[in-house]
Amino acid sequence: MSAPVECKLFTLVLLILIFILASELSNCKTNESDAMKYVCFSSKTAYENLLKYRRTANIKDGFVFPPRPMKCQPIQLNVVLRHGTRHPSVKDIQKMQACTTKVVGNVINADFVHLNNWKSSFPLSHEKQLVDVGRREHEDLAVKYSTAFPELISDFSRVKIVSSRISRSLESAQSFINKIAGVGETPKININDHIMRFFEYCQNYLDRVDHNKSANSEMKKFKNGPEMKQLATSLGEKLSLQNNIQLNGDDLMGLFRICAYEVAFYGFSHWCDVLNLEDLHVLDYLDDLKQYWKKSYGYVVNYAQSCPLLADIIHTLDSAADSKEGHPKAVFQFGHAETIFPLFCLLGLFKDEVPLRADNFRVHRNRKFRSSVISPFAGNIAFVLYHCDKEGMTSEENRRDGWPEDIQNLMVQVYVNEKLVQLPFCGHKMCSYEEFKKNYKQYATNCDYNGVCKRKTPEKKDEL
Ligand SMILES: *[C@@H]1O[C@H](CO)[C@@H](O)[C@H](O)[C@H]1NC(C)=O
Ligand SMILES: *[C@@H]1O[C@H](CO)[C@@H](O)[C@H](O)[C@H]1NC(C)=O
Repeated sequence: MSAPVECKLFTLVLLILIFILASELSNCKTNESDAMKYVCFSSKTAYENLLKYRRTANIKDGFVFPPRPMKCQPIQLNVVLRHGTRHPSVKDIQKMQACTTKVVGNVINADFVHLNNWKSSFPLSHEKQLVDVGRREHEDLAVKYSTAFPELISDFSRVKIVSSRISRSLESAQSFINKIAGVGETPKININDHIMRFFEYCQNYLDRVDHNKSANSEMKKFKNGPEMKQLATSLGEKLSLQNNIQLNGDDLMGLFRICAYEVAFYGFSHWCDVLNLEDLHVLDYLDDLKQYWKKSYGYVVNYAQSCPLLADIIHTLDSAADSKEGHPKAVFQFGHAETIFPLFCLLGLFKDEVPLRADNFRVHRNRKFRSSVISPFAGNIAFVLYHCDKEGMTSEENRRDGWPEDIQNLMVQVYVNEKLVQLPFCGHKMCSYEEFKKNYKQYATNCDYNGVCKRKTPEKKDEL
C-alpha cells in the first residue's frame, strides 16, 4: 500500500527544508572558524582585525541602536581605551631575532623560500612607538563615539581627556581628539598616571607577580609542553631547514610575533603562511596565559590594584547622576593593556569557570578570556549612564524588548569594543545604577589601595 501523493510531497518538502537548514548551519560554522584567523594574535591584534573578524563571522559590528528603552537619555559616557597598534617591545624584537637567525637563509622547502629574503620592519629604535595604524584606530573610534553619542560630545567644554604620560597613549589621545566632533575649544589632555598606571605604584603587585618569575609558570609550562613541542616539530618539517636546525618554544614565540605584528601593520604576513588555524590557536593560547596570570584573574592583586580607576569612574558618573554644576558629559581615558585587563576583572567580565592553565588548552577552545577580542590594540570599554523617565514605561513593554521590568531613574550600560555586555550581577544589558554601585562598592567606593598594594614610588617598567 502506497502513501497518498500529498504525504510523499510533504516528506519531500520537509527533507529539502532540513537540507537547507543543515547547510545554513554548517555555513555559519565554517564562517565563524574562518573568521578566527583574524583574531588569533592575543593582545597583539589590531582593532581593524577584530572588526574584520566580526564582519566575516556575520557578527553585527559597532554600536547598534536603539540599544536602550525609548524613554532613557544618556547623561554621561565614560570610556577607558588602550593605546593603538605600536611597534614591538625590545624583548619581542629579541625573540624575533632568535627565530630569524635560525630560519632566514636556511629554508629549503620551495613553498617558503621567500622567507630567506625577509627584512625586518621592527628596528629596536622604534620600540613601542605608536604606528600609523594605531593613530587611525583612534581616529576611527573618535568618529564612532561621536556618531553614537553626539548629545554628550558636541560641547567640548564638557569633554574630559585623560592619558598616561607614555607617548603611545598621549599620541592615541591626540589622534582621537583630532577627529571627535564637537564645538568649542579643543579639549586638553590631562596626564594622570595614578589612575592609568596604578600598576607602577603597587609594591605588592611588583613583588608577587610582575618581578616574580614563578608567577608566570603556567605560560612557561605550556611553552615547553606537548602542544608546543608538536608544533615545533611540524614547523621544522614544513620549512625543512638546512642542517636539520631545530626550533624551540622561544623560536615559535618569535615567529608568532613577526606574524602577529606584520598582520597588525600590513594586514598579511608570509610568516603566518607557515601556520594553520590550529597552530595559531596554540600560540594565541600561549600568549593569553601570560595576560591571564600577569594582568588578570590569575592573582587577585592583579585586578584589586585597579580600584582607583573604577572608583574614579564611579565618582565621575556620580557627578552626572547628581547633576553637579559643569560635570563632564564625556570622559576618555587613554592607557595600556595593564590598565584595561584589570578593570575587566574587577567588573567580573570574561571570566571562565576554570582557570587557564598549561594542561587545559582543549577545555578553553571557546573561552571567554580571549585577549584578541577583549583587549586588542585600541581596545575600549565604555560606561554609559542614562536618565530614564519612568512615566509611561510599562514593565510589559520592557520585558518584551528584553529590558529589565523595573527601570529606575538612573540606569547604566557597559560596552566593550562597541558591543553591549552583560555584567555578572545583572540579568540584562542595562542595570540600575544603584545596583551597579552596590555591587562594586567593595572595590570602588571602599577602595583600599594602600592595603592591597603597599604603595611605592614608581620606577620605569615594561608595559604593553
Ligand atoms: C558567510 O556566510 C554568509 C551567509 O551564509 C555569506 O554571505 C558570506 O559570504 C560568508 N562569508 C565567507 C567569508 O565565507
Ligand atoms: C611568587 O609566585 C609564586 C607562585 O604564585 C608564589 O608561591 C610566591 O609566593 C611568589 N613570591 C612572592 C615573593 O610573592
